[in-house]
Amino acid sequence: MAKISLTGIKPTGVPHLGNYLGSIQPALALAQNYLSVYFIADWHALTTIKDGKELRPLIHRLAATWLACGLDPEKTLFFQQSRVPELGELNWILACFTAKGVLNRAHGYKAMVQKNRDETRPAQVPPFNDLESNDEVIQSHLDAGVNIGFYTYPVLMAADILLFGSDVVPVGQDQKQHVEIARDIAESVNHRLGKIFNVPEPLIQESVKTVPGLDGRKMSKSYDNVIPLFAPASEIRKAVMRIVTDSKRPEDPKDPETCNVFNLFKHFAEPGRVDERRRQYSAGGVGYGDMKEELASALEARFSGARRVYDELLKDPAGLDRILEEGAVRARQLAGDRMEKLRKKLGLR
Ligand code: ADP
Ligand code: TRP
Repeated sequence: MAKISLTGIKPTGVPHLGNYLGSIQPALALAQNYLSVYFIADWHALTTIKDGKELRPLIHRLAATWLACGLDPEKTLFFQQSRVPELGELNWILACFTAKGVLNRAHGYKAMVQKNRDETRPAQVPPFNDLESNDEVIQSHLDAGVNIGFYTYPVLMAADILLFGSDVVPVGQDQKQHVEIARDIAESVNHRLGKIFNVPEPLIQESVKTVPGLDGRKMSKSYDNVIPLFAPASEIRKAVMRIVTDSKRPEDPKDPETCNVFNLFKHFAEPGRVDERRRQYSAGGVGYGDMKEELASALEARFSGARRVYDELLKDPAGLDRILEEGAVRARQLAGDRMEKLRKKLGLR
């Protein structure tokens, strides 16, 4: 049987170059050799977005992005997470196999706790009522703003990965821990019930594991440092011009590997041109302004065709919904046997 690759992206903002290089492009390349599964992780988006008017267009934009980048919904499996109820069912079952301590150690949750710790000292938080102990006061302070969906996010992600028997999960470095949690959950279920799940491997390409954003930190919607994939050319150019550089003059020799402009440029220009520019950086004689102009042109050359497809697709949201629903019907068929086996093993049937 063909090996399965699977990845999802949550519709929480407009897709950017980090998503493209770290997830979309490598995941689409796998369709050559794997039965490839792609989905819109809209239940995961609910952990942060509660407004339907905001979420709905983001789902359509992400669907149009995948398709415009070359996803073929006939040859692969492409769907919206919330249209596959088995994922919700499996989420619950897996939660019953997951130690709470594992989720305490998940990066996303730990970052929230750290933020709360840094913002106010627990001593400043008054007890909720006379019966509340000091430990409880501190714990609820540290958990401020954390909903249970956010806390158990890695369990739902494990359900996504395990339901379809994924062998590999192409993602950026930031998702590695989540895939490891999915592996641990798979192993603990298999240990208790016999082999039900494949134990998946994360697939992280070294060269694009953390694509830098405008300020050199990881490009991320949460840092407001992104270059959108399909914005109008003028907007993309404006973002490129905002990339942070040091104050070296054009004639000064520079290290290309530490330059935020070069680190994006190298992924989008012709390999020969990248080598030439790399030599010029080291020798001196290249200005950041010129490099930014060339990066903006390279992005335009690479994405303008796909952007036209994207704009067309967005004119027909009902058509996008149809594709996502048809994919979900097929996804449910693929999931059926494994779910039934699990229900039986657990005595639910
Ligand atoms: P964001 O950090 O902008 O919210 P997501 O968490 O939605 O992005 O990421 C979707 C996919 O894109 C994941 O597989 C993630 O690892 C990948 N990804 C996101 N940002 C980057 C980046 N800067 N470099 C490499 N991969 C990335
Ligand atoms: N958590 C991933 C992200 O933030 C999105 C995601 C949800 C995912 N389920 C998945 C990725 C399953 C890979 C496999 O980007």
